[in-house]
Amino acid sequence: MTDRISAIDEAPQPAAAPRNSRKVFVKTYGCQMNVYDSERMTDALSKDGYEATTTLEDADLVLLNTCHIREKAAEKVYSELGRLRDMKKARARDGREFVIGVTGCVAQAEGSEILRRAPAVDLVIGPQTYHRLPDALKRAKQGERVVDTDYAIEDKFEHLPAPKKAQTRARGVAAFLTVQEGCDKFCTFCVVPYTRGSEVSRPLSQIVAEAERLVDAGVREITLLGQNVNAWHGQGDGGAPIGLGALLERLSAIEGLARIRYTTSHPRDMDEALINAHRDLPKLMPYLHLPVQSGSDRILKAMNRRHTAADYLALIERIRAVQPDLAISGDFIVGFPGETDEDFEDTMALVHKVGYAQAFSFKYSIRPGTPGAEMDGHVAEGVKSERLERLQALLFQQQTAFAAGCVGKEIDLLLEKTGRMPGQLVGRSPWLHPVNVDANGSEIGDIIRVRITGAGPNSLFAEAIG
Ligand code: SAH
Ligand code: SF4
Ligand code: F3S
Repeated sequence: MTDRISAIDEAPQPAAAPRNSRKVFVKTYGCQMNVYDSERMTDALSKDGYEATTTLEDADLVLLNTCHIREKAAEKVYSELGRLRDMKKARARDGREFVIGVTGCVAQAEGSEILRRAPAVDLVIGPQTYHRLPDALKRAKQGERVVDTDYAIEDKFEHLPAPKKAQTRARGVAAFLTVQEGCDKFCTFCVVPYTRGSEVSRPLSQIVAEAERLVDAGVREITLLGQNVNAWHGQGDGGAPIGLGALLERLSAIEGLARIRYTTSHPRDMDEALINAHRDLPKLMPYLHLPVQSGSDRILKAMNRRHTAADYLALIERIRAVQPDLAISGDFIVGFPGETDEDFEDTMALVHKVGYAQAFSFKYSIRPGTPGAEMDGHVAEGVKSERLERLQALLFQQQTAFAAGCVGKEIDLLLEKTGRMPGQLVGRSPWLHPVNVDANGSEIGDIIRVRITGAGPNSLFAEAIG
């Protein structure tokens, strides 16, 4: 299942550019933060005359923006690099330039090891140093094999160019905006604190300016991004400390911005102001991605999640009390070291209690260097598979029930792209489902009133009303 709210294996690719210039092909893996970074890197390179292409054969520069979250995600990069090596050889025979770069979380985690394992790679750039990419590229073209995985002191966001109007238009009416990066939580299964560094929040003024620029360029929906987006903190008027709830309120005041979302949240950082934002801000969509990982307190403790199953359930109850229309989404890991059948049943029981609109579940994947890798009681692969299958069946049932419950509802739909059938447009429901509707003279970027008429396994169908 692909999604916009959790770690995904292959993310949407940047838009294509006109022909006749140097071309960069960026392949994005992982979470939405990588999608955002890929766009920023493309913007940074445009100053050097590079245009984005979605055709690998046209590219003079290929960047793999990688994900390290699970073993499979990381291994994909090396198989892709094998293919690129063959292409590079063929290009060399034709005397054509072909530069290969690895960016993102595998770059950060493995650094120069990538150059050793994949000799065709010219540059390796970590997520904190994208603003130095044009310079690294220059050096690579002079024959240097560049590795830059520092945690730069300077703020990369300050140095990355803002998207130009035309680029934003090409990317559509819904945009991502990274407001927070990194993580200090150190869940024992997770690589993110090592690949993205410690928690950093972008200042309020920088975020507001970027949001206003996006809206000015035609964007109507913004999703605020962060590995722990609800840990965002900044300074409000007069220097008072503020959190994500206040940031959402500030962004809500931007005229022309129609809807706001945020992801991913940690249960520990859902404060009162943020919960109340779901009651008070009509532009804030009723959707909350709140990963829990497990329903067993023993496992949650071993995972260092620093909350119990009861804490999580109580939190959901508080949020639902102010916003009953809320769709809850979550992430789960099965087969964490030491997980017994009983622990797993606790997870199933928690899922029953919450009733998820959507969820993402994974088999525990050993990540070298994390505390989980060193723990006793690793669970057999077959057991993990069985548990995952049972959990996914239940989550699918809940997802289907939630979608079926939407039928008959009237909603405002932001039209985002053309549909598969001629004359059809697709938007997102408040609860993030793709919704297909006959265009009937409406255009991408319009918000129209529709009635939901049907629910498929992955999308809804609607008819325009009024
Ligand atoms: N910051 C987010 C998670 C980012 S990673 C949070 O705290 O919720 C996205 C998801 O990948 C996690 O929620 C988790 O379910 C999954 N994940 C992370 N590390 C994993 C591992 N080692 N094995 C399997 N799944 C993992
Ligand atoms: Fe990883 Fe935990 Fe941080 Fe999420 S909160 S990024 S799961 S360490
Ligand atoms: Fe993957 Fe890095 Fe995102 S490990 S999930 S790309 S933060």
